[in-house]
Amino acid sequence: MIEPAPRRPRILLVDDNRPLVENLAEILVEAGYSVRSAGSCADALALAVDGFDVALVDLKLPDGDGTALAQRLKDLSPTGEVVLLTGFATLESAMAAVRAGACAYLVKPCATQELLVTVEQAMRQVRLHGDKQALAHKAQMAEKLAAVGTMTAGLSHEIRNPLNAALLQLTVLERRVQRLVGELQGPLLEPLVLVKDEIRRLDHILEDFLQFARPREFVPHPVDLCQVVSRVLDLLAGEAERRSIRLEREFPPGSGDTRVAGEEERLRQVLVNLTLNAMEATPDGGRVRVRCVAEAPDPALGERGTSVAVAIDDSGPGVPPAMRDRIFEPFFTTKAKGSGLGLSIVHAIVSQHGGTVSVEPAPGGGARFLLRLPRLE
Ligand SMILES: Nc1ncnc2c1ncn2[C@@H]1O[C@H](COP(=O)(O)OP(=O)(O)OP(=O)(O)O)[C@@H](O)[C@H]1O
Ligand SMILES: [Mg+2]
Repeated sequence: MIEPAPRRPRILLVDDNRPLVENLAEILVEAGYSVRSAGSCADALALAVDGFDVALVDLKLPDGDGTALAQRLKDLSPTGEVVLLTGFATLESAMAAVRAGACAYLVKPCATQELLVTVEQAMRQVRLHGDKQALAHKAQMAEKLAAVGTMTAGLSHEIRNPLNAALLQLTVLERRVQRLVGELQGPLLEPLVLVKDEIRRLDHILEDFLQFARPREFVPHPVDLCQVVSRVLDLLAGEAERRSIRLEREFPPGSGDTRVAGEEERLRQVLVNLTLNAMEATPDGGRVRVRCVAEAPDPALGERGTSVAVAIDDSGPGVPPAMRDRIFEPFFTTKAKGSGLGLSIVHAIVSQHGGTVSVEPAPGGGARFLLRLPRLE
């Protein structure tokens, strides 16, 4: 199935009172949280390196003070939140909690309801931090993309002028060669035609760049995404065969209407970029599988939950977690001959269509690029 399992919020429980920790952990696990526990500051810091959403920290720990630990935990995970656990509901504990950057404090032994409400409130803060970070990242990408756009537009323009002049001179040369006697013509004309074709190809690439840099008005039409996938895979079949890569398509029957509102040419560009990346990452003899499916409405999202999803799985090395955000940035590439523009173009087009694109590990190893576009109303 394409849908990844939603990640359970991660709680870090730090207290040296074992029975209390076991009791709290049981309540939290039952409520759907994933819980890890530590009995000391040192253990807590070691666990926090893997990340956490909410840390519940005892004020008095065998190897140090809970407020100092709270601050260090916040440094390690700036989007996380800390709730302090204290034995007494005093003004001092409340002040200590605030000073340590904690968002709340709980008095032990805490009632189940109170514990769950406090943790849920802290989780709300955590989600807000996440949204804020995502927004900042998006703004940064948009800024970079705008700069790339201006630069490519200028550069494409500058390259096009001498290129057209060269093409013109080649046409003059061609005409002169055609006036030569028959046997001299052949060996001269052949490379001439090749050069002309290559120049036309270059001009075509520049045209693409210009289109990207100065996006035309977006005029959406109904487009069957599965059909676009099919055409793209037909187009790339030759290259896949040459490298003995199995290029598989999977359109589950009866998955429903897979039409979206968009521009076919641009969606084709998205799928070509993603499939080419997958093929480039896959070793010869490997496999690339593209699955296109209409997703059922998600009750939690209402009508807006209906989307068409495309998952592109490859059998390459996958994308390391630390690189997952960076690969969508313009000019980020690990390839000797890559421009690093492929995925940023994908990201820009998908956002324009109101969709999302993300990367995760593929079930059988390798990378999975997941594209989601709102289904045609
Ligand atoms: N399927 C994949 N598996 C592993 N890494 C990938 C995959 N797709 C993309 N990447 C990584 O993301 C980087 C950026 O990809 P992007 O398509 O933007 O540029 P590129 O492929 O390097 O260059 P270009 O697309 O211009 O030829 C790649 O260099 C590669 O490191
Ligand atoms: Mg690429």
